[in-house]
Amino acid sequence: MGFAIMCSGGDAAGMNPAIKRFVEYVDELGYQPWLIYDGLEGLIDDRIEKAKFSDISGIIHRGGTVIRTSRSKRFFEYEWRKVAYDNLMRKGINKLVVLGGDGSFRALNQFYHDFDIPFAGVPSTIDNDIYGTEYCLGVDTALNVIRTSIDEIRDTAYSFKRAFVVEVMGRDCGYLALISALTSGAEALLIPELDYDLVAMEERFRRQLHEGRGYFIAVVAEGVKKSHEMVELFERIGVESRLTVLGHIQRGGSPTITDRLMAFEFTTAAVDALVAGHVNSVVVYRNGVYDYVTIEEINAQKYQIDPDLLALGAKLTR
Ligand code: F6P
Repeated sequence: MGFAIMCSGGDAAGMNPAIKRFVEYVDELGYQPWLIYDGLEGLIDDRIEKAKFSDISGIIHRGGTVIRTSRSKRFFEYEWRKVAYDNLMRKGINKLVVLGGDGSFRALNQFYHDFDIPFAGVPSTIDNDIYGTEYCLGVDTALNVIRTSIDEIRDTAYSFKRAFVVEVMGRDCGYLALISALTSGAEALLIPELDYDLVAMEERFRRQLHEGRGYFIAVVAEGVKKSHEMVELFERIGVESRLTVLGHIQRGGSPTITDRLMAFEFTTAAVDALVAGHVNSVVVYRNGVYDYVTIEEINAQKYQIDPDLLALGAKLTR
C-alpha cells in the first residue's frame, strides 16, 4: 500500500511536524510513504516523491510546510483530476492524508467519489473554522504570534497615549480575534459572530477617557471589515489612533509545543483511519479525544465558537 501526504490551501504551523510523523509512522507500519509537493497543483503535475528520512530531518521546528502548498483551480475540473489519479496509480499510491481546511477536504471528497481514492483530512488552518473539531493545526502558534504583537504594540500605545486597532486574520471566523482580545486585555472587539454597537462603545470610551484611561487596544477580525471605522471612532473622541494589520505573520513562525504535539496525534489518527478502512474522514478533536467525522457532516453544519467564550467577548463589543 502506498500512502501519500499533501498540504492544501493556507499553510499553518504544525504542518511540518505532521509530515514528519506521517513518514515515520507509515514506515513503521510497513507501508511506503510518499510526499506530494505543491498541493493539488503538484498532484496534477506529478510532483510526487518517495519520502526519505533526510526529507523530514530538521523540519520539526519550522513554520510553513516543506512540501509547500497551493490552491488549485484546475482540480475543479474532472480532466485534471483524472491526470492526478493516473499519477497516483502509476506509483501505487492508494491512500492520501491531506493537511488543509474544509475547502480542501471537499475537493478530495470529489476525488474520492470520482476515483475511489480514500483520504483522511487533518484540520489545518489558523482560522479554527472547521465544523466538528475544537482545534485546527496552526491556531496556537497564530495566537501566540498575535499575543506577542499586541504586547509590543501596547508599548507604543501606552507611551503615546494612542489607540491601536489590531486587525487579525480568520477569514469569516472571529476565533483568533476573540481569544486574542480576551487574553491580551483589549478594550474592544469586533467579530462576525457578535453584534456590536459602535455608538455605545464610543460612549464607553469617552467615559473611560474622562476617568483617566490613557490608551486603547481594539482587536478587529478581518471578516467584519470595520478596522478603518474603529480608527475613525477613536479619532472622533480625540485619541490619536493607528491601524496595524497583522497579516501573514500570523501564519508563520515555529510551531508551538501544542501544535507539534497535536500534529503528531492528528496524523497518527489520520493514518489509523486509512488503515482501518475509512474512506473520506476528517480527524477531529473534541472533549479531549480524537474522533472522525465525514466530510458530508462537516459540510452540513457551520463551526460555532463556544458560547461561553462568546459571552465573555460580548462585553467588549459595545
Ligand atoms: O485561511 C487562512 C487565511 O490566512 C485566512 O485567515 C486569510 O483570510 C486567508 O488565509 C489569506 O489568504 P492568502 O494567503 O491567499 O492571502
